[in-house]
Amino acid sequence: MSTQASPYAHITGWGRYAPAGVLTNADLEKMVETSDEWIRTRTGIRERRVAAAHETTASMAAVAARRAIAVAGLQPDDIDVILLATLSPDYWMPSTAALVKEAIGNTKAFAMDVAAACSGFVYAYSAGQAYITSGMARNVLVIGAELLTRFLDYTDRSTCILFGDGAGAIVLSAADTQGGGLGFELTTEPSGAYMIWLPAGGSKSPPSRATVERGEHYIRMDGTQTYRFATRTLASTALAAVAKAGLEPADIDLFIPHQANIRIIQSVADGLGLSMDKMFVNLDRYGNTSAASIPIALAEAVDSGRVKVGDKLVIVAFGAGYTSGAAAISWTADPARGALAESIRPEDVTVRPPLDWEPVDPIPAALVEILARPGSPEPGAKAAEVHA
Ligand code: ACO
Repeated sequence: MSTQASPYAHITGWGRYAPAGVLTNADLEKMVETSDEWIRTRTGIRERRVAAAHETTASMAAVAARRAIAVAGLQPDDIDVILLATLSPDYWMPSTAALVKEAIGNTKAFAMDVAAACSGFVYAYSAGQAYITSGMARNVLVIGAELLTRFLDYTDRSTCILFGDGAGAIVLSAADTQGGGLGFELTTEPSGAYMIWLPAGGSKSPPSRATVERGEHYIRMDGTQTYRFATRTLASTALAAVAKAGLEPADIDLFIPHQANIRIIQSVADGLGLSMDKMFVNLDRYGNTSAASIPIALAEAVDSGRVKVGDKLVIVAFGAGYTSGAAAISWTADPARGALAESIRPEDVTVRPPLDWEPVDPIPAALVEILARPGSPEPGAKAAEVHA
């Protein structure tokens, strides 16, 4: 492992993966007492992606990771550290990051998961930055990946309408020239610990027939309290990161907020005194993908031409814990390199299954019909010309 410290860590690669299954508001109307109109006006969400039975958090993460490495122009073994943010790991152990390391063909990195719910990607990014600037690593892979549709109660209309599946990844590379993450702000407020939580499965309440009968293996949430936390915290966390970077909000070209609720994003814009055209929004097509939401949005923003070299970006998230996190970033990579991600096909990336063990059918009964439909293409794929 390198011992040469570098002052900067540039984002040199980015990639994303979204499963083909689509769960629409019209589908949810058939499951719970809700309406497309209510979901659209209260959240901004129209549809979310749903992973198929053969997919897991690790398999989606590995595709996004291989794409980010391809965009960076690196080989898998160039990666020194793999950090994977998730609240929906494949297993309690080993880490999902360890499975991804093998799936992408890396033999050298150390790998670990990061648990900070929807803020997890920003937390993992800050750790990756620190590994590079301390000289412990030259190239760090930071992933956010979630398979939330298997942790939802499809009779609870306050949660099942919100969440979706997907993965996003970036590569951070050591650099001597200014760029990359210039200011970070992370907060943890345990007063909100039980406002979004999953009661059973841990040491406090191990999984059992009783916990399953009580539905305690599903995400629970106080939406109103969480909404208040988000609107109270997001703008101040973003502002702190901007100030630490030595910038003003007006210097920022694009904000990429956690994609939870359009009204929350609107309130961040108001709090920062900015118009909505400075806020990147794609939650209408993905819902809330927790730790995957920002890396998916970042990759989509770059690939759709919203980012150019020299732009100043802010990513900002909130989530269970409560946690919040923001980073102010100076963008240095040629956006056209994003087309290199297309060389990585999902069918070419495999996560090794365990020997002598078969999982039970992972698909919730409410989603069986949805997943039997023909899938939609991966969003955003485009064949741009790539400058070497
Ligand atoms: N369809 C129709 N009606 C609904 C639905 C639904 N899906 N869900 C709730 N309602 C009803 C409620 O029962 C309530 O009815 P009542 O007035 O008769 O009691 C009414 O709508 C209003 O409910 P509220 O909860 O006040 O609705 P609100 O406008 O706050 O929207 C929402 C709810 C969308 C959940 C919002 O509070 C929110 O987005 N909160 C933040 C949640 C979030 O982002 N969580 C992710 C955190 S990230 C992480 O770490 C996982």
